[in-house]
Parts: sequence; C-alpha cells; structure tokens
Amino acid sequence: MTYLIRNGRIVTATDDYIADVLVEGEIITAIGKSLDTPSDAQVIDATGKLIFPGFIDPHVHIYLPFMGTFAKDDYASASRAAIVGGTTTLIEMCCPNRTEEPWEAFELWRSKAVGISACDFTFHMGVSKFDDHTEAQLRRIVSEGISSFKVFLAYKGFFGVDDTELYKTLCLAKELGVIVTAHCENETMVAELQQQLLSEGKTGPEWHEPSRPMRVETEGVQHLMSFAEITGAEVYIVHTSNSFAVQAALEGRRRGVRVSIETVIPYLVMDDTYAQKPHFEGAKYVMSPPIREAAQQPLLWQALQNREISTVATDHAPFDFVGQKEMGRDDFTKIPNGIPTVEDRVNLLYTYGVKRGRIDLNTFVDAASTQAAKLFGLFPRKGTVAVGSDADIVIYDPDYRGTISAKTHLMATDYSAFEGWELEGRPSHVFVRGKLQAHLGKFVGNLGHGQFLARKTRS
Ligand code: URP
Ligand code: ZN
Ligand code: ZN
Repeated sequence: MTYLIRNGRIVTATDDYIADVLVEGEIITAIGKSLDTPSDAQVIDATGKLIFPGFIDPHVHIYLPFMGTFAKDDYASASRAAIVGGTTTLIEMCCPNRTEEPWEAFELWRSKAVGISACDFTFHMGVSKFDDHTEAQLRRIVSEGISSFKVFLAYKGFFGVDDTELYKTLCLAKELGVIVTAHCENETMVAELQQQLLSEGKTGPEWHEPSRPMRVETEGVQHLMSFAEITGAEVYIVHTSNSFAVQAALEGRRRGVRVSIETVIPYLVMDDTYAQKPHFEGAKYVMSPPIREAAQQPLLWQALQNREISTVATDHAPFDFVGQKEMGRDDFTKIPNGIPTVEDRVNLLYTYGVKRGRIDLNTFVDAASTQAAKLFGLFPRKGTVAVGSDADIVIYDPDYRGTISAKTHLMATDYSAFEGWELEGRPSHVFVRGKLQAHLGKFVGNLGHGQFLARKTRS
C-alpha cells in the first residue's frame, strides 16, 4: 500500500515540524511540504495531529512461567494491545530459569511470537546460570541476531545469578559487544526481610514494599556498577524505581561505566499507597522493585526530562487478580509480581507527562521510542520518522478524551491497574512497516504481520 499522510506535526527525539509523509510498501520514502500524490496513494489528512515514530517497549514479559503460574497474555493479545496503544516493537525478556538451557529457551520464546505477533519483536536473552554449556549457547543465540542479555540479581534460586555467573556473563558480553540489562535488587536482603516480616504476621500486599526497600535496590545497582566497572561491559538497569538507585547508576557513569537507566510507567504515576489498598486490592499493584513513596515521582520525572533516565518501558507482566494475584492472599511473597501496562504506556506518558508539563514532546519520543532503538541496535530502522526508516508510524490525536478500563482493554488480564484513569490523547492510526494495524482504538490489522528483528552487536 501507498499512504500519503498530509500536514501532520512530525515529532522525533530532536525535531518538531509540519510536513507530509509518504509511505510506500514498508518504508518511509519521502518527507516534505506539499508532496505530490502518487496515483495509487491513500491520503490521510493529519492536520492537527502529531506524527510519532512507532513506539518501542524495551521491557515486556509475555510468555512468563513465574511464581508458580504463567503470565496471562500471549502474543495475540499482547501485540494487539501494544499496537492499539501505539507500540509497534516489543522487546521481550526471554526468561529461562536455572534448570533450563538457554538455546532451548530462546527457541521456545521465539516460537511463541513467530507467525502470531502483530507487531515487530525481539528478545533480551536471559542468563540465569553460567555453567560449562552456557557460553557456546549464548554465542549461538547472539549469532541469531540477539544483541542484549538479561540478568536478575533478584529472585534467588529461580532466575537469579550468583556473582561468579554475573562476572562471566559480563565478560562474555564485553567480548561480543552485547549490552546487559539487569534487574537490580540484593536478593539476600530481600529473602531475609521477607522472612522477618512474615514471622511478625505481616502478610498483606502492603508489606511488599518494606520487604524490598529503596536501599535494597540501590545496593543492587551499586553491585552491578562495580562488576561493570571491572569487566568493562555495557549495562542497562531495568525498572529503576527511585532516585537513590538513579544516583547510584550516575555515580557509576561518572567513574566511566557505560550504563543506561530505564524506568517504567507505574513508578512515574503511582505511589506506595496503591499496594496498601484494603481487601487485598493492593495485590494489583505488587511488582518488583515496588512502587515507592510519592516523593520519588517528581525526582524520576526530572531525571527523565534531564535525559539521565533514557527509557520508559512497561515491564508488562500480566497476572489476573482472580486466581493468580490471589495466590498470595495469606502471604505477600506469593503474589505474582507484575502489572499489565503494555496497552497504556504511551497514552499515560503523554497524558501525565507531556500534558502535565513534566516532560516535553521530544523527550517523550526519545524515552518511549528513540533511545530503545539506539541502545538495542534498531536505529535508524526504528525509533525515528525519516526517509529510509521502517514505516512504523503513529498518528496521534491530542484531542481525544477517554478513560482506561479492563472492560475495553485488549490485554488478557481481568483487571486494569489504571481503571478509570483519564487519557488526553491516543493514536488514531498505527502503522507497522507500512500496514495499518490500528485505527481509533480498534485493532484492524493482521496477527502474524510482526517480524523477528535480528540485531547486530556493538562489535
Ligand atoms: O514485578 C515484576 N517486575 N515482574 C516481572 C518480572 C521482573 O522482575 O521483571
Ligand atoms: Zn525485573
Ligand atoms: Zn521485567
């Protein structure tokens, strides 16, 4: 198909101007004022609308066996939801546990997406152990187009690596030019604090945050900084929840560590009182690291606007309230961790970030699209609106007004953590490589259109 998108306001991480965009096949082929209309073009009048590059969510979980259950979405539900919300590329955490082999896990995770996903996708390869068989498998996975690893310093005995494994993973990553994403919490402290709280009869979801205080996360970041400094590996801290952890990463950067920082939507717009809601309602807001005191929010917004925080992801980890979150009714340590957000990230960041004056439009695009593309080897194919880039385009309607509800969302979960939240903007058209996949909040495209994105390493 050929589309001529007329007269929209094109916003990238650096630019902001009004022009026409010509899409031919999968690619943007021209940008300019008053472009000629090809005879076969469908013309879309984007006057008054914003034109963004397709958004990239660099941290989602879709297939996720975790805490005795499985995350609720599959690629059909998650990719449809992502697209309707403006996200055209997903980077999923491939998360084998310590008993599983990396290559088998990679093939399994990839098989869940290929032929099903409606949007493009790739993976961060989880490294949950490092034994005699690991290195060869990781090299093979990198040769298949994976240029980022994932390590957990938390979740003792399940996903978590020990220090020897962390060291070896970082050395291999340095050699291969692979960036290592890391969940930073000191797992020993978490385990001890959890046991202490439970022994005092503190079993409700409101005790999740005290079991993983900011110091525990900050220690995880400092720990990673030391290992990255010694090994020289490039690292990326996922789901950073608070300013102390941000500062610990920035201290590492001042010492020469190549480190980037991600935060996720719940930390920017929610506080710890959500997990304190009565009648176990707080379980809907249990994720790790936990959502923090309200005083942290302006500090995170500021670090985002300063571009100290590079990306805003979701850490989409969808579990139903009934039957899944409820597994932890008598013990908060058994509540499956995670909040479903893949559908709402862009609209929440626009409404509560841009419209509230906390971040500017260029920063919004940078954090929700461009930085992820640059850090994870997708730029300039993805992450910008430019001639030659994939025609992943979001035409955004800033005049839309609506509310979020589980009754209407496309995610598979039985609740929304943002039930009733107001939105001031949403995508009117979402294109994935030149194909219209969503229109006015409805999925109008094809499952299976999404492609696996093979990525090159830094070397
Ligand atoms: O609570 C979270 N974050 N759940 C998903 C797993 C992870 O730690 O990323
Ligand atoms: Zn995590
Ligand atoms: Zn995660």
